[in-house]
Amino acid sequence: MEIDRVNFGVFYTPQQYISIIWREIEKYIDQNTTILDSSCGQGDFFRKDISTTQIGVDVDSDAIQKAKSKFPNVKFFSRNSLLNVSRDTFGIEETRKLIIIGNPPYNDITSLAKKEQKTKYIEMDSDIVTRDYGMSFLLSYSKLNSDIIAILHPLSYLIKKANFNLLKKFTNRYRLVKGIVVSSSTFYQTSKSNPFPILIATYESNPLGMDFEFIRSFEFQTIEGKKFRIKDFDYIPNYIRKYPLKKIKYRDGDILFWTMRDLNALKRNRTFVKKYSTNTIVVDIAKLDYYVYVDVVKHYSSLFPYYFGNLDIIIDNEMFKQYRDYFIQDSLNRWSFLNSFYTKIDMKLETIQTKIREYFKNLLGDHYVNLQN
Ligand SMILES: C[S@@+](CC[C@H](N)C(=O)[O-])C[C@H]1O[C@@H](n2cnc3c(N)ncnc32)[C@H](O)[C@@H]1O
Repeated sequence: MEIDRVNFGVFYTPQQYISIIWREIEKYIDQNTTILDSSCGQGDFFRKDISTTQIGVDVDSDAIQKAKSKFPNVKFFSRNSLLNVSRDTFGIEETRKLIIIGNPPYNDITSLAKKEQKTKYIEMDSDIVTRDYGMSFLLSYSKLNSDIIAILHPLSYLIKKANFNLLKKFTNRYRLVKGIVVSSSTFYQTSKSNPFPILIATYESNPLGMDFEFIRSFEFQTIEGKKFRIKDFDYIPNYIRKYPLKKIKYRDGDILFWTMRDLNALKRNRTFVKKYSTNTIVVDIAKLDYYVYVDVVKHYSSLFPYYFGNLDIIIDNEMFKQYRDYFIQDSLNRWSFLNSFYTKIDMKLETIQTKIREYFKNLLGDHYVNLQN
């Protein structure tokens, strides 16, 4: 059972987040509404005190058994929600206004397959197959012709262009109307280190759908009361490439840098590396300053909030030019090979660190994480 739990992405959603979902959907509920949670677990999202039709589905029959005993007013199905997806399957009439709620599992299917864990429940309709369980759930909501979708999912589904593009069948028909970001570390039984941002998202059906520019301009809120838009910042891929070129000419003595992904990946990964591999970028010496910048970001990454974890590395190029020397001195302290390109200045470590913190404070504004407070 334990392995299955990991497999299906089972963890329980804090009540505070469930209340937010209900607050968001309240205004849409009328007498013709059906509320569906197609990954309901033990039914924590349901309410005993409302007369609206509620339907719960989960592949875990033990969980459904418990849910049934807790919520006699809810109709339950124990089945795979991603197979034979239709309103008919869940007994919902086409004329009903359908509101989806819940916290679907989010799991990279490719990594699950790699671990050779059970794959039989990953079976799903061919038109909703993606590489991530949670993204397939989003496509299933679209297939059900839902009217409103108020669920939790990783922020990365929307803000990473590669993911966003996989969700076309969903994004063509729905528009995000509210997005509150919470940290994965606030969920029970989840890893507290290297948390990632999860979105409490409310979508309305809208024939205009949304494009990536819409997401870039969307004002996300955080549960801590902050606000941000992706387009408010400039990012490192505007200056250096994140990934290796397909045909790389690697020569002895070239400087190598690990492939860059988002900030969370940078926290886990190395920066400058000695050994060439398919994951290494050959550094363009003319742009070495920017690689130094990324190296320094890694070492000061605790100043960034969790909700920037899936963004590219943020930079303010003009300001960086002013603080450049401090970044270089900081990186020189870690990497002696940099002595061939830069001159070490006699400067107190404390001065360097103070100036770099100052840069990040200006860069991040009220998003700056000051652990001393
Ligand atoms: C993150 S848990 C959420 C549980 C519950 N909503 C809560 O927050 O307390 C995800 C749930 O999805 C279920 N699940 C995973 N794959 C499923 C599938 N293909 N069909 C139906 N349920 C599935 C798991 O059994 C698990 O209960």
